[in-house]
Amino acid sequence: MSYLLGIDIGTSGTKTLLIDEQGNVVASSTSEYPLSTLQPGWAEQDPQDWYDATVKTVRDVIAQSGVNPSEIAGLGLSGQMHGAVFLDGSGNVLRPSLLWCDQRTAAECAEITQKVGAKELVRITCNPVLTGFQAPKVVWVKNHEPEVYAKVQKVLLPKDYIRYRLTGTFATEVSDASGTSFLEVPTRRWSPEILMALDIPISWLPEVFESDVPSAKISAQGAADTGLAEGTPVVGGGGDQAAGAVGNGIVEPGIISSTVGTSGVVFAYSDEPSYDPQLRLHTFCHAVPGKWHAMGVMLSAGGSYRWLRDTMGFPNYDLMNELASIAPPGSEGLVFLPYLTGERAPHPDPYARGVFFGASIRHKQEHMIRSVLEGVAYGLRDSFEIMKEMGVPMSQVRASGGGARSSLWRQIQADVTGHPHVLINVDEGPAYGVALLAGVGAGVWPSVQEACRATIKVEQQTAPHADHVPIYNDFYEVYRGLYPALKSLFERDAQLVEKHLMSGESE
Ligand code: XUL
Repeated sequence: MSYLLGIDIGTSGTKTLLIDEQGNVVASSTSEYPLSTLQPGWAEQDPQDWYDATVKTVRDVIAQSGVNPSEIAGLGLSGQMHGAVFLDGSGNVLRPSLLWCDQRTAAECAEITQKVGAKELVRITCNPVLTGFQAPKVVWVKNHEPEVYAKVQKVLLPKDYIRYRLTGTFATEVSDASGTSFLEVPTRRWSPEILMALDIPISWLPEVFESDVPSAKISAQGAADTGLAEGTPVVGGGGDQAAGAVGNGIVEPGIISSTVGTSGVVFAYSDEPSYDPQLRLHTFCHAVPGKWHAMGVMLSAGGSYRWLRDTMGFPNYDLMNELASIAPPGSEGLVFLPYLTGERAPHPDPYARGVFFGASIRHKQEHMIRSVLEGVAYGLRDSFEIMKEMGVPMSQVRASGGGARSSLWRQIQADVTGHPHVLINVDEGPAYGVALLAGVGAGVWPSVQEACRATIKVEQQTAPHADHVPIYNDFYEVYRGLYPALKSLFERDAQLVEKHLMSGESE
């Protein structure tokens, strides 16, 4: 029997999973780390924390399972996308990593768009450059920390820094590289045009692999740190969304996923690198070789529900779900916009903020809670609508993440979108997807599709409630009208927050 290891370097923690050749989970371990937000909109982490968590969780799963490390046929890495780790010529980390949810780079996005040209940027990367992406972070360091920039010799994505620490090799893969704005997405290689326009040497970027291909081997140092066998192959792996999609079996046309974790993501497989002409969704390379995907990313989905729990002091989600079930569909006109940390799809806007709209004296706690569940579902529907416009086939929607575990929220998502939502037998997220990719790399399965067919099964379905669908169709129109009506006020509000926060700090 051989085993496969998946490691996911998430934003709140690292999760490591050991599975067997049938796809059964043999052992799992998670270790958390802090997020530093020195200024509003900033988000940084210390890459050493990721490595410490990797070492701890790998050691945990080896100990828990009793598996001999030499029986681990391969390892896959996944992680939070878009972040930048800056290394000097000796491989030392030069500053904390800027993360995907860091919003400080609005000026650098404008600078890149101007230097490359808006049309050219979309032709090459299939996307606009957004504040969370990696390239503007590199330009931000150039503009604001020239002393750091002068020492940079490598720029890595979070999971690829862990690959470097485990193997000594600089490598990445197509799905995560798609979220840098340095990759030519249709041809799956770094773009010489963009690198030249930004005066960034190609030697700063790692070699790009397909996701299921061995990219490196565990080094003597990596083996000493983790207890893994030296020489264990490490496949390309995937950015957390593409890896999570493999773990959900989103590897063929028609099956899409809707995942509510901190963020909310609607993800569809594609045979072609086709993109929404209005650029409201991302088009990236998939972790399936030679394939692509479209996805809509909401920044605060489960994050909105967690915020409500924490600010209103609820002890747990079960109580909140119970209360929400008392309020009627549509929450008697209370509509929540879930833009607590800005938004990406369908409104790429770092200044957008959360709103409770339509509050009346009749509204109680239960309406507020339900309206947050509904607001997130409306946000997911925005991506469904764009995919329909793009002609994406939708024969099955697979619900996953924490938001799929609540039967009430799953029902609301089915009612709001009008699509049945199914649950599958595994909900282990990106770590599971990259363990499957490791299995393909090690020859356990002949292809990513075969790996998914062998391990993933549909278990139950939540159908839309016929009486609720028209109610949600009506209130969705109100939801859709709110962002355009408020857009300029969001920006003004952000300016005022900055002005008064800054003056408060100097007093
Ligand atoms: C995807 C994205 C998030 C991060 C963090 O585009 O920004 O999924 O990868 O999870």
